[in-house]
Amino acid sequence: MASYENRWQTVRVDLDDQGIGWLYFNRPEKRNAMSPTLNREMLEALNDLELDEQVKVVVLTGEGTAWSAGMDLKEYFRETDGKSDVVQERVRRDASNWQWRVLRFYGKPTIAMVNGWCFGGAFSPLVACDLAVAAEDAVFGLSEINWGIPPGNLVSKALADTVGHRKALEYVMTGDTFTGRQAAEMGLVNYAVPAAELKARTVELAAKLLDKNPVILRAAKHGFKRCRELTWEQNEDYLYAKVDQSIGRDKEKGREKGMSQFLDEKSIKPGLQAYRR
Ligand code: COA
Repeated sequence: MASYENRWQTVRVDLDDQGIGWLYFNRPEKRNAMSPTLNREMLEALNDLELDEQVKVVVLTGEGTAWSAGMDLKEYFRETDGKSDVVQERVRRDASNWQWRVLRFYGKPTIAMVNGWCFGGAFSPLVACDLAVAAEDAVFGLSEINWGIPPGNLVSKALADTVGHRKALEYVMTGDTFTGRQAAEMGLVNYAVPAAELKARTVELAAKLLDKNPVILRAAKHGFKRCRELTWEQNEDYLYAKVDQSIGRDKEKGREKGMSQFLDEKSIKPGLQAYRR
């Protein structure tokens, strides 16, 4: 088993025997604010977990009372102010790399398990994860307006993709906080559960994904995420190409098994259950 012990300062990984890689923001004393170091370490950790064959689903969560308090105002902003444009652009690129390129199009299913504070820049990894479960009393906010900037990175785009226009602008413009329960009503997370049940309910959701064919799951989620930005005609071609690609890559021949179990054996109804792998 790969050992992730003491590999990083600001990120921690636990593997469980079901195949879930628990990836922690691990700066509880700074409410898991994302510093340039954390951004670099997240990229490494995600890359390592993606190649680790024992890991089938990644859950991104926070150590302590926060999921993440957003970008680190001291290390990400103040300490890079005045540095060269190249350094500033690199610091931004490192954040975008793990959030938008690696996590958003990750090779394995991802779940954000929002255990506490979630502010500003933390909306990027939140929306980049495929699914999200929050504690009912977790506190969310677009706090940028409260300290003098509009939302940066792709936070506004991420909101526009998940939350209705009015609610998104309300929170962007007022900086008011909202709870996990409200986040679920707005569609920012899939559901909110009592804090005491958060881990168990996340494991339940992960278990559904662990049961599925990983090749088809990857094609399905990547296809869905990209289809929003293509035209109808491009999508028709792209999504069929995704189907063909997944059939070609699927060594367990899920499509044949599924059809045969339904049409020949009559042992499953795909509307009601998955094929036996
Ligand atoms: N950047 C840098 N440091 C941060 C931080 C951030 N985003 N969020 C928290 N911290 C640091 C605090 O400065 C403090 O450091 P110190 O102990 O060296 O003084 C430490 O984390 C604990 O923060 P504190 O404010 O005492 O914790 P709290 O539990 O009372 O409040 C928050 C938690 C999240 C409500 C509060 O820390 C906060 O408002 N953070 C800023 C959130 C924000 O605007 N994020 C958007 C950035 S785009």
